[in-house]
Amino acid sequence: MTPPVPGTSPLIAAPPDERLALYGPDFAADPHGHYRRLRSQGPLARVRIAPDVDAMLVTDYHAAVDLLRDTDTFTKDPRAWQAGVPADSPILPVLGHRPTALFSDGDVHARYRGAINDTLALIEPHLLRAEVARVAQRLIAGFSAAGSGDLIAQYARRLPLHVFTAAFGVAPQDTERVVRGTAAMMDSAADATAAYDDLVGVVTGLVARRRAAPGRDLTSYLLAHPAHLDDDEAVRQITLIMSSGHDPMTNLIGNALLRMLSDGGYGGSLHGGAITAQEAVNDVLWRDPPLANMGAHFPRHDTEFHGVPLRAGQLVLVSFAAANTQSPPSPSESTVRSGDSAHLAWSTGPHRCPARQPALLMAMTAIEQLTSQLCDLELAVAPEALIWRPGPFHRAPAHLPVRFTPLDTLPDPEAPDAPDAVDHVPIRVGGTPNG
Ligand code: HEM
Repeated sequence: MTPPVPGTSPLIAAPPDERLALYGPDFAADPHGHYRRLRSQGPLARVRIAPDVDAMLVTDYHAAVDLLRDTDTFTKDPRAWQAGVPADSPILPVLGHRPTALFSDGDVHARYRGAINDTLALIEPHLLRAEVARVAQRLIAGFSAAGSGDLIAQYARRLPLHVFTAAFGVAPQDTERVVRGTAAMMDSAADATAAYDDLVGVVTGLVARRRAAPGRDLTSYLLAHPAHLDDDEAVRQITLIMSSGHDPMTNLIGNALLRMLSDGGYGGSLHGGAITAQEAVNDVLWRDPPLANMGAHFPRHDTEFHGVPLRAGQLVLVSFAAANTQSPPSPSESTVRSGDSAHLAWSTGPHRCPARQPALLMAMTAIEQLTSQLCDLELAVAPEALIWRPGPFHRAPAHLPVRFTPLDTLPDPEAPDAPDAVDHVPIRVGGTPNG
């Protein structure tokens, strides 16, 4: 998309040098500094999300809620906007149209969303908790003797992957491709399009296998759902679930662990009574939501929204991170707010996250398992030295180096008499999408 010439469009509220870039290392290093500058421009500000793509970003909490609920003024269908975006733009794997819940409205959305909701409802919380604990113990056993490790590469990134791929029936040899595909999408990396296509290839093979021979996994249930999704629709919903689920899970676990390990009063270690997993998760959802800027919407017609003129078809993103942190916590809230009912980390309105409960349960279980087994964990570098992954959409530590007292042995979670030895598919036995 060619950027408009400065001064020729009433939509440009700030000079080009004020059009902050939300990609690259500067934004990743200081997102909240960027949000402060953007807020000074009003409830919406023009930003650049890729070298050749601009968007309006909502940073005001009330404007964000209004937009996310206003289906009369805004559509989720990006096709009119997308026509002006280079086909190889690295943001298209995230924002480009596909026949999924995320890019549809009204009845079409209700059909896809119903199939997704019913499928996710088959996940049994106690089976999910046991499966997350089992995977967590295996992963911890992989590095606990070393006395050091990277909690992103060796834990937070791997754990949701193992749980998702088992739940959907992905072949073990394809799991790395799922990780690569979802990560490259969110990084808006140069190879994002190829990585997304590869992810779709993995899921296409999976759907073909389960169409021919259903099993007891979420893919088979989705295919049998009364919404009667065709193969492409099924592939796209599963790809959406994996990409919406995997990377944000990694980042919620990683950011919450970082919060616990860098909590001011405790000198970068869990010793001495750090904040609890619950407090850390809650704090991250308020201050650094894993999906920082998303909620893509497009005005159905030229309009004025919270005093800002918008053009039909223009890309409007919601900064969940900026909206959540608009007013600083009051002194009584100290560094941690309680309750999670009002933050926008899961969005709101018809496209709010359908997986809030299982996502919270996975994150809490993952953190509790790690911190109860490696109880003197501490950061191996100063928090300021951490590197954050680039990309406009997420808040994602690239690594989380830690050290701890090495452990000699851990219980083998695969042992037949282990208390949590479970079926690895955490879904209701005998459940069907119909009941
Ligand atoms: C920490 C974890 C997670 C966070 C913070 C999160 C947050 C969000 C947010 C903000 C949205 C709205 C996105 C938009 O409108 O552009 C969303 C949508 C969605 N999420 Fe999550 N999510 C998480 C985990 C998951 C998981 C584990 C799954 C699946 C198992 C999932 C599946 C989805 C789906 C399918 C949508 C699209 C819903 C629709 O358009 O109707 N998410 N999520």
